[in-house]
Amino acid sequence: MSRLLVTGREKLDGEVYVQGAKNSALPLLAATILTKGENIIFNCPELSDVEASLLILRYLGCGVKRSGKTIIVKSDNVSRFDIPDDLMRKTRSSIVFLGAIIARTGKAKLSFPGGCEIGPRPIDLHLKALREMGAIIEEKHGYLECFAPKGLNGAKIVLSFPSVGATEDIIIAACLANGTTTITNAAREPEICDLAEYLNKCGAKIYGAGEGVVVIDGVTALEGTQHTIIPDRIAAATFMACAAVTGSHVTLDGIVSSHLASIIPIFEESGCKIKSGGGRLDIFAPKRLKSMRIVRTMPYPGFPTDAQAPLLAAACTAQGTSIFVENIFENRYRHIGELVRMGANIKTEGKVAVVEGADALYGAAVEATDLRGAAALAVAGLCAEGTTSIGGVQFLERGYEDFEVVLSSLGADIKKI
Ligand code: EPZ
Repeated sequence: MSRLLVTGREKLDGEVYVQGAKNSALPLLAATILTKGENIIFNCPELSDVEASLLILRYLGCGVKRSGKTIIVKSDNVSRFDIPDDLMRKTRSSIVFLGAIIARTGKAKLSFPGGCEIGPRPIDLHLKALREMGAIIEEKHGYLECFAPKGLNGAKIVLSFPSVGATEDIIIAACLANGTTTITNAAREPEICDLAEYLNKCGAKIYGAGEGVVVIDGVTALEGTQHTIIPDRIAAATFMACAAVTGSHVTLDGIVSSHLASIIPIFEESGCKIKSGGGRLDIFAPKRLKSMRIVRTMPYPGFPTDAQAPLLAAACTAQGTSIFVENIFENRYRHIGELVRMGANIKTEGKVAVVEGADALYGAAVEATDLRGAAALAVAGLCAEGTTSIGGVQFLERGYEDFEVVLSSLGADIKKI
């Protein structure tokens, strides 16, 4: 397995064009199953999770062509309704194919998505909603068999938690349903708006995406369209953390600053100066960060759970104590043990992590166990004395395009071996 070698204390300088959003690309590619005709998706990040989704689309019978960041999908001949276990296990988010396959074919058979490194990842909210829309879903040992022979029916759905994946699954399933579906307590993430914008261009009737209540009037058919995926706000937050821990000035290009509205104040709190506008953001970091005080992860527009790990890593050498409260996932502190091996002073108690700023971190051999945890270890490596060897690079490749190439272009001493 490859490893990343990061030698710290190098200042960064330069400009990064932020990749397309992984968490927009994945549901949007699933949604192409609903359409007839050609879809051309621009700014699609080159990630292993995206490759996994393309394999599923091809398996189902879709024509898929990729050239760089542009993907062409034609779903006129969807011929299968199942997803084999090995493909399901490649990415947790493949559950979002469930609604699309049922809506298109009237049935679906897929294994339970692998739990992943940050918790069991239940899908009860997805299944409850699809059943309320008339799907018959049998949960057998390890996999689901679903039937909706007369199609799905619009329903009034109330989510007990604003689940991103469940909101996306329901929106996709409701586009071709008989009648109107309303989702109360829907997730409001920008990726939901991106999905709805794509589907509405295909002829769907989705109202209120990005709000707490979303209404979808079912239509009879959707026509493929062209769409450009929004920038990845979590990748942007990660590169901001890299600049913050190295006392650097870095420019991000191709961002939507409103998507970072809950992230920018945390960096400003820790002493960074941020200028943004016209799709660009400049971050000027101080020699040493001040504490971030308290960071609570919340559903959008609150602080995103995916940015917790990279920013917690940046807090490890700040002056003072930073407190993190992880409210979304129950096991999303697995990077902390590895940061402590590098000299970080962190105590966790349930959802809470207390980070006492250390004067320095020291290079060590560390292992990543999930995507954002891997990013956290790289952030820590950038400011550590000496060299950090990071295992689990395959996790980074799930969500960051050419991570080490981008960082070395900014002057970091980082290489994949
Ligand atoms: C999406 O995951 C993202 N993944 C995650 O990003 C992100 O962390 C998460 O939303 C929250 O923003 C993609 O978009 C592909 P949820 P998802 O359903 O849809 C519980 C990354 O690093 N829940 O909003 O799985 C669940 O256990 C990844 O890019 C249920 O209980 O997130 C969790 O505690 C990681 N039952 C909470 O809700 C359900 O049926 C939030 O999950 C569904 C979810």
